[in-house]
Amino acid sequence: MDHAPARPLRSYRAAAPLSGQVAVPGDKSISHRALMFGALAVGETRITGLLTGEDVLRTAGAMRALGAEVTRDPDGIWRVAGRGIGGLTEPADVLDMGNSGTAARLLCGILATHPLFAVMTGDASLRSRPMRRVIDPLSATGARFVSRQGGRLPLAVEGAVDALPLEYRVPVPSAQVKSAVLLAGLNAPGITRVEEPEATRDHSENMLRHFGAQVTVEVAGNGRIITLVGQPELRAADVVVPGDPSSAAFPLIAALLVPGSRLTIPGVGLNPLRNGLLTTLLEMGADVVVQNSRLEGGEPVGDLIVGHSALRAVDVPWDRAPSMIDEYPVLAVAASMAVGTTRMRGLKELRVKESDRLDATAALLSVNGVKVEIDGDDLVVHGTGKPPAGGGLVATHMDHRIAMSALVLGLVTEHPVTADDAGFIETSFPDFIGLMNGVGADLRAP
Ligand code: S3P
Repeated sequence: MDHAPARPLRSYRAAAPLSGQVAVPGDKSISHRALMFGALAVGETRITGLLTGEDVLRTAGAMRALGAEVTRDPDGIWRVAGRGIGGLTEPADVLDMGNSGTAARLLCGILATHPLFAVMTGDASLRSRPMRRVIDPLSATGARFVSRQGGRLPLAVEGAVDALPLEYRVPVPSAQVKSAVLLAGLNAPGITRVEEPEATRDHSENMLRHFGAQVTVEVAGNGRIITLVGQPELRAADVVVPGDPSSAAFPLIAALLVPGSRLTIPGVGLNPLRNGLLTTLLEMGADVVVQNSRLEGGEPVGDLIVGHSALRAVDVPWDRAPSMIDEYPVLAVAASMAVGTTRMRGLKELRVKESDRLDATAALLSVNGVKVEIDGDDLVVHGTGKPPAGGGLVATHMDHRIAMSALVLGLVTEHPVTADDAGFIETSFPDFIGLMNGVGADLRAP
């Protein structure tokens, strides 16, 4: 992917309201985990609704390289024939995790307690991201990690032979770090204990239970304490992957911004630890209604009905960040059309995403005529209630969410907005362009 030629894409102001239905792809976080837990279970796991974006395909490839059988039926159902905990085999070649931090960090957890040697790399974006946040805790299992300067990929790992269970307090709000520690705990005897100071997405905990592991979760202030009993026999379990709320955010905000629009986004995951965007948009006066709330595969799901809305600015508290960490770029786009100044607090973690998303989001807006500042760890957007001028060329920095946010902005600006490379949208939302154009957007190559 590194060397693929850039694919610029331009978004023109929508000539008419957006209308119809956008079925977003499967949740990325849940898709990675379904493949990984399936590979660690005994028996065949069937996965319905798996995201077939580049990031998840990297996880599928890594699980195959570690000895699991991963196949896709013609009807789109994926099957994973697991190897059982401790049963993975040494990969014959380097594991290339592409653009995916989740794939890389969770896999480090699995590898730490499998007595094998593996080397992991990724694209230029992933090779610039910090891995010490998992290397440091995982080394206490007895695994040996060697990485580039600053804990960057490529890295090599020699998994522990007699792994020790971890007791770890995660210093940053990160579901990836929490999950890496839990995954390592699967092949360590005794109790693994993770404490997180702020609650982050709990898909790993939910899925561990679904596969038969013993997990306890205790609420402690804003955070949680999770324990896992090591070396369970994970039993294969079918997984139904809900629509990704982080992908739904793009058509959702597009419908809020384009005058007269009305969109239905069916089957979106509504896990309470992922719903910060919805809470925030409702505070801004958004017309979003949830219909048909139901449980699918253990996760709450609903259909979103969204209508164009006049938005007002809000102050987004820092402690909401973990529940909407991937949604800030597109929320900032919405804020640029709201009346007043929106402050989004406590966004330090945005600096270590697929790009430095704090800088990239501010640049996306300012190059299109929006007044925006970074104030410490806060992003401050001055909305006028009117469409910004647009006309900017947005540097996407190998970041799918910056590209999609720029293209949503272009639906309302006076002049078209260009994303310098839309190729990375494939990582999480392969049919974004087709689906958006299908409801009335005008996205095309310049
Ligand atoms: C993810 C956790 C988040 C999020 C990422 C997916 C996960 O990262 O940004 O897109 O699946 O666990 P952090 O936990 O590092 O904040």
